[in-house]
Amino acid sequence: MSVPIGIIGGTALAELAGVVVAKGDQEPCVSTPYGPPSGPLVRRELAGRDVCFLMRHGPGHKLAPHRINYRANIRALADAGCRQVIAIAAVGGITEPMRSGRIVVPHQIIDYSWGREHSFYDDPQDAPLDHIDFTDPYAPTLRNVLLAAAENLGLDPASRAVHGVTQGPRLETAAEIDRMERDGCDIVGMTGMPEAALACEAGMAYACCAVVVNKAAGRSGGTAIHAEIEATLARGMSDMQAILETAVPAL
Ligand code: HPA
Repeated sequence: MSVPIGIIGGTALAELAGVVVAKGDQEPCVSTPYGPPSGPLVRRELAGRDVCFLMRHGPGHKLAPHRINYRANIRALADAGCRQVIAIAAVGGITEPMRSGRIVVPHQIIDYSWGREHSFYDDPQDAPLDHIDFTDPYAPTLRNVLLAAAENLGLDPASRAVHGVTQGPRLETAAEIDRMERDGCDIVGMTGMPEAALACEAGMAYACCAVVVNKAAGRSGGTAIHAEIEATLARGMSDMQAILETAVPAL
């Protein structure tokens, strides 16, 4: 098998449908020095390429964003040989262009999460400390491939967005979203960090492909957030599947 491409599926991609089962397909839940990842790593062939798929919230979507073992997830993908990781996410839209259903490939992050195990540089016995350069948190080559795939599918993706990452699992208050907009955030999600930083520490190219599933708190004009998410999610998942099938062969 060739070097697999890691895919972390979130709320917007609960499973990869219609993929061909490759040899040595499903691995049992592996262990890492940080404990087990969220679920089994599923090796599949997708559009002719090996992929290694991991559900961020675990089977049955049970793990809350602050309970996800991000270190174990990234370490497990690295141990499986992945050098590139595509992270799928469902997000709320803060700024006007981030309308529901829109595909977004963010270029920047602001981290509002707290208390999560966020670094591999934890134990002085481990590898010598490195302060990773995180100026551009997402790999430009991966971003370009995701954007080109979405454009080829006629999806009008947003090619720049600042991704604000909150702690969850509750949604935000309207004032928190106002503050995030003043800070420069365009979209809000709960799982983008420390995942992106850990992938960078692990030396992997990492990019996020997000779908806006609701207007963020205080911007919904009366539509209930959960109803909006439900109405948007199915379409978002099928768009994600199509983007992956188009993007993966180009990597
Ligand atoms: N806020 C935070 N995370 C989210 C949202 C939101 O509005 N929608 C989907 N994930």
